[in-house]
Amino acid sequence: MRILLISGPNLNNLGKRDPEQYGTQTLPEIEGLVQKRAEEWQAEIRPYQSNHEGAIIDFIQQESTAEGMIINAGALTHYGLALRDAIEDFPGLVVEVHLSNIFQREEFRHTSVTAPVASGLVSGLGWRGYLAALDALIGMLHEGAKA
Ligand code: DQA
Repeated sequence: MRILLISGPNLNNLGKRDPEQYGTQTLPEIEGLVQKRAEEWQAEIRPYQSNHEGAIIDFIQQESTAEGMIINAGALTHYGLALRDAIEDFPGLVVEVHLSNIFQREEFRHTSVTAPVASGLVSGLGWRGYLAALDALIGMLHEGAKA
């Protein structure tokens, strides 16, 4: 079972970027935690980060045979319609993750254009949200759930 772990703009700066909001863990640390948990499930994680919407879309298209995707699209979440279309076209299960609770923050963060094409959304649980997303995703895939 192959699961994509996609991070959008500015998430490469996790650890030093607004730690009150996003925590002190770096992206490689979070990816490592997800990878470790995935091993327990005998699943393979394919991590990818880009600051460019088109590059993320290319990756999703190239990896379209993966069974699932965990995506934190950063600010693209709020306006990335081309990314939304790529997620909609992805045949596997998708869980959207945000470290912060986007609904508690500025008004523009309350809207996710990508959440309607995901199976579910985890927001506000920090790095633990990624593990919750992975457990849910793999559980659903084992049950043969449809997106
Ligand atoms: C974020 C929330 C977004 O609003 C923001 O632009 C990010 C990070 C989060 O993980 O909480 O880059 O996706």
